[in-house]
Amino acid sequence: MVRITDVIHEDAEWIIQRMGEALEPLSGSTLVLTGACGFLGSYVLDVLADWNRTREEPCRIFALDNFLVGLPERVAHLKGRDDIQFVTHDVIEAYEPREPVHYILHAAGVASPMFYRQHPLETIDVNVQGTRNLLEACRTQPVRAMLHLSTSEIYGDPSADAIPTRESYRGLVSCTGPRACYDESKRLSETLCVIYHQKHGVPVKVGRPFNVYGPGQRIDDRRIVPDLMSAAIRNEPIVLLSDGRATRSFCYIRDAVWAMLLILLKGQAGEAYNLGNDREEVTMLQVAQLLQEIAGTGKPIEHRVSADPQYLSDNPQRRCPDLNKLRALADFAPQVLLREGLARTLQSYRHEV
Ligand SMILES: NC(=O)c1ccc[n+]([C@@H]2O[C@H](COP(=O)([O-])OP(=O)(O)OC[C@H]3O[C@@H](n4cnc5c(N)ncnc54)[C@H](O)[C@@H]3O)[C@@H](O)[C@H]2O)c1
Repeated sequence: MVRITDVIHEDAEWIIQRMGEALEPLSGSTLVLTGACGFLGSYVLDVLADWNRTREEPCRIFALDNFLVGLPERVAHLKGRDDIQFVTHDVIEAYEPREPVHYILHAAGVASPMFYRQHPLETIDVNVQGTRNLLEACRTQPVRAMLHLSTSEIYGDPSADAIPTRESYRGLVSCTGPRACYDESKRLSETLCVIYHQKHGVPVKVGRPFNVYGPGQRIDDRRIVPDLMSAAIRNEPIVLLSDGRATRSFCYIRDAVWAMLLILLKGQAGEAYNLGNDREEVTMLQVAQLLQEIAGTGKPIEHRVSADPQYLSDNPQRRCPDLNKLRALADFAPQVLLREGLARTLQSYRHEV
């Protein structure tokens, strides 16, 4: 059973206070949100739903999803509201809006390696054809801004001298490996955004999230944080399917969604921005140890070998964003360190089950 938790409402309140007037352009506008039942999309929906409660002229939201991996129950608490229309729609089909659209936030995708390995062609389709359809929609609509969510995975496995990684880094990516359906189609999606901006003046901005985690993510999503949380909640040993030495810079979702809204509303069209947390680059083992301590279960950390022989193929050894471009754009600094973010996430999962 997944349900909205107090943690998300508290986070939403924080974002609303912190962004203040910066959200004002959304008043009275119409926004199309794709992937509205997914991890990032549903959280954006919760933030905007809470913001709308304070507005005379709310933002009207068309919340699209095809439920390939998103769960409808994640947003069930928002059904029946006048300001949010849920639309079952696969974005690989052309989208005909029912009213003029001012903003598009394209969060549809297949982000978890477990799911994109199960659905490689759908992953390519949503990233390439889905993005193209939304860029086409921008040409016929009075769109002020579109945010396309790409990924830090477009950088592949950067060399040590490219850490922290800037937007100008071209990447070291396999075009045929087990992650290629995701990484390469995201790369092409960015090419499409640049072409539509240059050729048709589409006001599209690209965000490249780095390892976001937090409340609202499916606990069976098989990304590392929900996997560890699942073990902690069940009081089982924490299992790492690696030697635990690879690093990531995990970004709590409140910081990520704050950055996404800043890029949507203030970003320069045709540009890509890293979004994440540059304050801590930690090993997988450190994440597991921290969670072990926070959860206080006393269960050990075990290293096992995945049944999938390609589980670790092309796995990036390090991930850390350079956020200078985003900082130059707006007053952004990630606030939530891993200890606090994991504690909030665990609290949220404990309320769900
Ligand atoms: N969460 C992260 O850490 C992270 C990191 C980098 C990039 N991203 C990108 O951000 C976006 C959102 O990520 P997320 O973690 O919320 O992903 P998610 O997998 O949790 O959710 C994506 C949502 O998109 C929906 N979807 C998939 N294909 C669709 C289609 N063809 N038409 C309509 N809906 C479709 C899914 O059903 C799901 O609800 C994705 O594009 C992802 O690649 C996320």
